[in-house]
Amino acid sequence: MQDNLVIEGGQALQGSVRISGAKNAGLVLIAASIMAEGETILDNLPRICDTEVMVEILLEMGVDIHWNEEGSLCIYPPDHEINCTTPYELSKKLRASNLFLGALLGRQGKAIVSMPGGCDIGSRPMDLHIKGARALGANVDIEHGYISAENREPCGSRIYLDFPSVGATENLIMMACKTPGSSIIENAAKEPEIVDLANFLNTMGAKIRGAGTDIIKIEGVSRLQAGRYAIIPDRIEAGTYMIAAAISGGEILVENIIPTHLHPIIAKLQEVGAIVHETDQGIIVKAGPKIMRTDIKTMPYPGFPTDMQSQMLSLLALGNGTSIVVENVFENRFQIVDELNRMGAKIKLEGHAAVVQGTKSLYGARVKATDLRAGAALIIAALAAQGETVIEDAIHIFRGYENVTGKFSKLGAKIR
Ligand code: EPZ
Repeated sequence: MQDNLVIEGGQALQGSVRISGAKNAGLVLIAASIMAEGETILDNLPRICDTEVMVEILLEMGVDIHWNEEGSLCIYPPDHEINCTTPYELSKKLRASNLFLGALLGRQGKAIVSMPGGCDIGSRPMDLHIKGARALGANVDIEHGYISAENREPCGSRIYLDFPSVGATENLIMMACKTPGSSIIENAAKEPEIVDLANFLNTMGAKIRGAGTDIIKIEGVSRLQAGRYAIIPDRIEAGTYMIAAAISGGEILVENIIPTHLHPIIAKLQEVGAIVHETDQGIIVKAGPKIMRTDIKTMPYPGFPTDMQSQMLSLLALGNGTSIVVENVFENRFQIVDELNRMGAKIKLEGHAAVVQGTKSLYGARVKATDLRAGAALIIAALAAQGETVIEDAIHIFRGYENVTGKFSKLGAKIR
């Protein structure tokens, strides 16, 4: 029986919320840390299921890893080779386990990672990761559900990504920074988490230039020295609380954020009538007198993030007028629509677009979280719904949101 979350709607959120470290930066930095000699200390990591699974995987692989008393993660890989196979039972829980492909090849020239299981937001292919690894001189075979890769003649190369894939960019950065010669990744992903990875590796002695743009240049080095690093705050967690404030008719202060990472989300919140302003303490979001309609197209960064698409559907379900939400990054990321319609929303799917006909009220219901962000979006809808909502399989939400019931309760939500 998975955990359930129960929310009583109708409370306007008030007060301040402190944003945790970014899940999607923490996961790749945990993987990358095995490439360093010595002990890496990662600060500001969120204590969520996904980071705990990554810790378990590293333990299985023979890496000394533990949380210290300050809550930082200490990672000390051994001098000798570690187990180069990610354990299937653990890695099928977590798409990010595919990041060990680049980390293991970068560390010891050999990696066996299980093909990530299909996720609820679409098939998660690895073709761009594999194309890049081969370009850098690795032999890559797919057998028995595993990607088996080994450096043959590692040599810097120019790689063009057909799509600016976040994971492929991260894997190829990790490989290329230890591959002799110069490499260039073209049409690279520009997400802030990519920049965090490059900054982290550069503190270890890597030579990576251009992260955050679509052209990343890397000079291979032979060794990387461990160090201490604090990861960036989670822009998606921040956006989730900002939308919750807007839908609930409240006003909150969101602390510990990097405003530029939130500009696409701030722009859309202002379009729907929320009042948003940046202060030295953080970002203040105040619900507008009503929720206006708008259109959304999810795009790679700096476009509107796909990880905020479900949360916007919940908000626009109570909008004045009809909104169109187009999902351009994943091919199957609208499962939440059926759940929102059970709560009284009027959303219908037309291919990659969701047509959201705003309605006056949502009603509490028993609903199911299908993935992490859909689960968060159901919390958002439940805050504004009349009556009680029960969210089943809330375990998805705990995968990526640190202390979610504590943070929402502190803002005045009736959640347990
Ligand atoms: C990362 O996933 C994030 N996960 C996702 O966040 C996020 O939604 C996604 O980037 C897009 O921003 C982590 O960082 C752990 P992609 P990733 O490779 O790397 C296609 C969350 O909720 N593609 O950029 O798997 C793919 O099918 C999660 O925190 C290929 O075609 O995303 C998809 O349509 C959900 N071939 C598109 O690219 C490939 O080889 C984007 O995928 C790789 C990807």
